[in-house]
Amino acid sequence: MSKLIPAALFGIGAAMAAIYLKDNKSNITSAAKKAINLTKLTYPIDSTYDNGVALTPPMGWSSWNLFRNKIDENLIYEIGVALKESGLLDCGYKYLNIDDCWHSSMRDKNGRLQGDLVTFPSGIKALVERVNALGLKLGIYTSNGTLTCEDLPASLGYEAVDADTFAEWGVEYFKYDFCHNIPIPKEAPAIEKLTFSLAGSSDYIECRPDDAVLSGEAALVKDSSLSEGKYISGLSANAGACEWLNVYADEAGEYNLTLCIRKKKNTDKYIEIKINGTDVYKTTLPATKSFTPEGRHQVKVYLNKGINTVKLYNPVASKQDSAAIQYINMGKELKIATKEYAEKNGTEEKPIVYSICEWGRNHPWKWGRQAGNLWRTTGDIKPIWASVLAIYEFNVRLYKHSGVGGWNDPDMLEVGNGKLTLEENKSHFTLWCMMAAPLILGNDIRSFIKSDGSVDTENEIYKILSNKELISVDQDSCGIQGRRIKSNGMHDVLVKPLENNEFALCFFNKSSEPFVIEHSLRDIVFRPFVITPYAKQYSVKDLWSGETETVEDIVSATVQGHGVRVFRVKAI
Ligand code: GLA
Repeated sequence: MSKLIPAALFGIGAAMAAIYLKDNKSNITSAAKKAINLTKLTYPIDSTYDNGVALTPPMGWSSWNLFRNKIDENLIYEIGVALKESGLLDCGYKYLNIDDCWHSSMRDKNGRLQGDLVTFPSGIKALVERVNALGLKLGIYTSNGTLTCEDLPASLGYEAVDADTFAEWGVEYFKYDFCHNIPIPKEAPAIEKLTFSLAGSSDYIECRPDDAVLSGEAALVKDSSLSEGKYISGLSANAGACEWLNVYADEAGEYNLTLCIRKKKNTDKYIEIKINGTDVYKTTLPATKSFTPEGRHQVKVYLNKGINTVKLYNPVASKQDSAAIQYINMGKELKIATKEYAEKNGTEEKPIVYSICEWGRNHPWKWGRQAGNLWRTTGDIKPIWASVLAIYEFNVRLYKHSGVGGWNDPDMLEVGNGKLTLEENKSHFTLWCMMAAPLILGNDIRSFIKSDGSVDTENEIYKILSNKELISVDQDSCGIQGRRIKSNGMHDVLVKPLENNEFALCFFNKSSEPFVIEHSLRDIVFRPFVITPYAKQYSVKDLWSGETETVEDIVSATVQGHGVRVFRVKAI
């Protein structure tokens, strides 16, 4: 059970009078500081997200790349209809994702997010029902911050209520951005003592510093300005913990826990309170400039009748820790919400694909698999070649981190948008398939439907997006991101192992002139990450032309400027 207290997260406690106090420095604090590594992830993460979806890279469409803030429920539905009628749904593009700007700047009277009252007047639940009737799944978006990137309400501090809302609406994809994020403070409060009391009672249970079991950097510091004459320091930045093992309550119930603190430092402070090894309460205390040394901060907690244990610590030692914890929190709430909604209503659970979008800032490839289903590795894509190329260069190096259920996300596709040439559009799509990237379309799908209702199968962009041979490279059940096995800076060779002992081979020419690229198949099959057996001959199918050749060893191909050639290879 994880209990977050949104009010405490942002609120300023009344007891924290804002007047300056001289800082009470101690050797312990500076020793603890030295021990802290501020750049690495120190938060222990041990299990994979494992919500049973996104076993292959998610495929669908998103409103952001082309439509930005110019969206409404009719547009979203029309795109859904076009996905179905164009056959793209049958190709696998099943998530219809509404990005930023779908919602009202006001939460409703119950504190829940609601669709924009003018552009989404029927509400998101009604849209989900219509979209599901087409055979598609609806996706939604907010930010791991106080507002979204377009400054609309977001979910930091509202994780549980927003996850519940999405589950109730039947949403099946959730993109969680990083704008207006407030990191969890690395500082922890200095604890003088704890008291617990039942509401309305003046009796209290007291936990004194001398009775605490201290671990790590935690230590007692003398301070004659406090009634206890001392406080517990060293709980900051994952450095230590203090625990009371024998907190006796006459009756079970909700208690007011008062953290009696030694006010210090003009920075926010964070502490987690773990009761009986399972219930975790999280709270942020405001920065202080107060006159008085003693302060108090209150949290409601549940105690069992009899003996309880109470442990205090701050697990956050870096920005990476903060981001990982915040994304993990939301992911947990999504899983709880969909499960509980299904149980309560006797319906089949609709798990939510959880898309982490913090632009690679906190190395999400290191913790994303434990937090969600996919994680953006870079900043925003633009519909220009330089952007596609830069994102490819970064994402291609991260091959180790992608796999079934958890994917590197080099951002949504710009195929068909902006200034990309036909060759560049083909390369963009091919490289994303080679990198096992999520295939989230970003163009206007309605343009594939002719005025007589038939599908414009000759449309070059349509031909790219509906290339089933390439889609099957992306969607291969082995879930292996292709590796770049050779590069001279201008010309790359990539290999992606596929099911049935096959592999995809891609030649990529970054220069603007045509170039002949060649590579030995024997060199590839002898590499440890490729399981294709050595053979006298291989069948090599060009996935753009459809032509198949039999090759003994060297595949050689002319590749257009900014172009690719891509082949499916199997031993014969
Ligand atoms: C960020 C994300 C984009 C998009 C916008 C919406 O920039 O990275 O993909 O969601 O926000 O405001």
